[in-house]
Amino acid sequence: MNSIFHNRHFITEDDWSKNDLDTVFETAFDLKKRFALGEPHRLLRDKTLFMIFFEQSTRTRNSMEAGMTQLGGHAHDLTADKMQISHGESAKDTAIILSRMGHGIAARNCFYGSGNAYLNEMARHAKCPVMSLQDDVYHPFQGLADLMTIFEHFGRDPRGLKVTVSWAYAESHAKPLSVPQTQILLFPRYGLDVTVAHPPDFPLNQAIVDKARLNAKAGGGKLSFTHDMDEAVKGAQVVIPKNWGGFGRYAVDEYLKNEAECKKEMAARLAKHKDWIFDRRRARLADRDVKLMHALPADRNREVTDEVIDDEAISLVYDEAENRLHTAKAIMALTMGGRG
Ligand code: CP
Repeated sequence: MNSIFHNRHFITEDDWSKNDLDTVFETAFDLKKRFALGEPHRLLRDKTLFMIFFEQSTRTRNSMEAGMTQLGGHAHDLTADKMQISHGESAKDTAIILSRMGHGIAARNCFYGSGNAYLNEMARHAKCPVMSLQDDVYHPFQGLADLMTIFEHFGRDPRGLKVTVSWAYAESHAKPLSVPQTQILLFPRYGLDVTVAHPPDFPLNQAIVDKARLNAKAGGGKLSFTHDMDEAVKGAQVVIPKNWGGFGRYAVDEYLKNEAECKKEMAARLAKHKDWIFDRRRARLADRDVKLMHALPADRNREVTDEVIDDEAISLVYDEAENRLHTAKAIMALTMGGRG
């Protein structure tokens, strides 16, 4: 008999029930304890995970690879440019072949308009679990680590916790929509009171916002929106100041047809919002015990000041990054193992 988790794809938490996710968190906390005790937990002995990165990564790549080693298996760290993907080999053929050789496939593909579709195409054909390491719509592993960190610092019943997900200025790159979209879909399912702040030029995808409202209604959480960052951080117990590009303004086909033009327009709009930063002044507007969270990498002194991110009384960013390991291991152990 197989468990309900065996061979399950993990592309968005929205495909998993709250009961399923509760099991994931229990597993992650258990694995975190076993890791701290130095207790072996080789639940995926001799199993192979194939990881395909179309983009750079520090936390995701290393949490998955270290996680597979600690679980007794091995992760292949692949990049699309080193594979026949670069000569046009299809997602279908890649998925079928890799799933005949191993036990899990994970991919990061954040190209706007095609990343999530690529993951879903792999999932349709793979005979093993397919995991999203971030795409243009979702970043499911980040969402799990964020919520685990909230549980650690605010308790396992965080209903009513006031969390502000705020757009912030950045120059490193136009960051995907996937982190805030995952957060607004997931947090209200656990009863959190989520406020989203962004300049009008930088909306999230409307279909995701509509689904997040339904999730909030079903989960007892709240979801509200504002274009005023000061207003959004007032009384907040957690602030997550993070850039996302202005992709949400464009329909996918419009963007794909005029990519260069859209990017130019996004850059021009970005330049108007340098004051969207989480600094000491804004931290004072928040709850007196406010916590900072950020998926990292942060654009320091653009999204958040050094003074705030390095303040150990406020910043949870390193706990959040570490929890990427424990949540990654939980998903891999449940989906790649789990035979009864
Ligand atoms: N938060 C996150 O996904 O980090 P990386 O891009 O380094 O994997």
